[in-house]
Amino acid sequence: MKITAILTTLIIAVVFIAGSAFAVPPGKTVVFKSAMGDVTFDGKIHADKGFKCNDCHTKIFPMKQTKLTMAAMKEGKECGTCHNGEKAFSVKGDCMKCHKK
Ligand code: HEC
Ligand code: HEC
Ligand code: HEC
Repeated sequence: MKITAILTTLIIAVVFIAGSAFAVPPGKTVVFKSAMGDVTFDGKIHADKGFKCNDCHTKIFPMKQTKLTMAAMKEGKECGTCHNGEKAFSVKGDCMKCHKK
């Protein structure tokens, strides 16, 4: 049992370190495929605005790509936490600032 626990901890540590090598900012992107046009989340654009990892992780986003929805964003979650027309341009307009064909 003890060995299993140690191994699990090690695996989590390695996955975390490996994951961090692909950290979104700076210079990394996460692309969300969409029929509306793919959305590219650019770590550099956001880092240049002064955001730090813990502004987004993990209270808004996990450190892995997940399925996001417009419905949640319009309720002020996910990208909509900031893209609400106050902190940044709103998910209720400016569609093409995010969706690129
Ligand atoms: C402005 C918000 C924001 C900031 C700041 C931010 N991230 Fe992210 N990060 C995201 C989003 C959005 C995703 C994709 C999450 C999803 O799909 O649910 C993500 C995903 C990731 C992933 C997974 C990438 C993949 O391809 O699966 C890692 C690792 C990560 N971030 C690390 C970091 C680190 C390290 C920092 C600080 C240097 C950081 N992030 C700062 C928003 C941010
Ligand atoms: C922590 C706040 C925050 C979160 C979360 C966030 N953004 Fe942003 N984003 C900003 C700010 C601030 C800007 C600067 C633009 C502005 O002031 O309107 C920006 C700019 C952008 C731009 C650049 C638009 C342009 O043409 O210059 C894109 C695209 C973008 N965000 C997409 C996303 C996507 C997609 C997500 C979710 C996966 C996301 N953002 C989550 C704060 C955030
Ligand atoms: C801040 C960036 C951002 C803005 C602005 C934005 N979207 Fe999105 N949208 C996304 C992201 C991220 C996804 C998730 C893509 C995926 O993984 O399916 C998405 C998904 C979608 C989808 C796929 C299904 C769904 O509903 O989740 C549609 C349709 C859509 N957006 C339409 C729009 C329209 C119309 C607007 C303008 C009123 C808009 N979007 C503005 C980021 C944005």
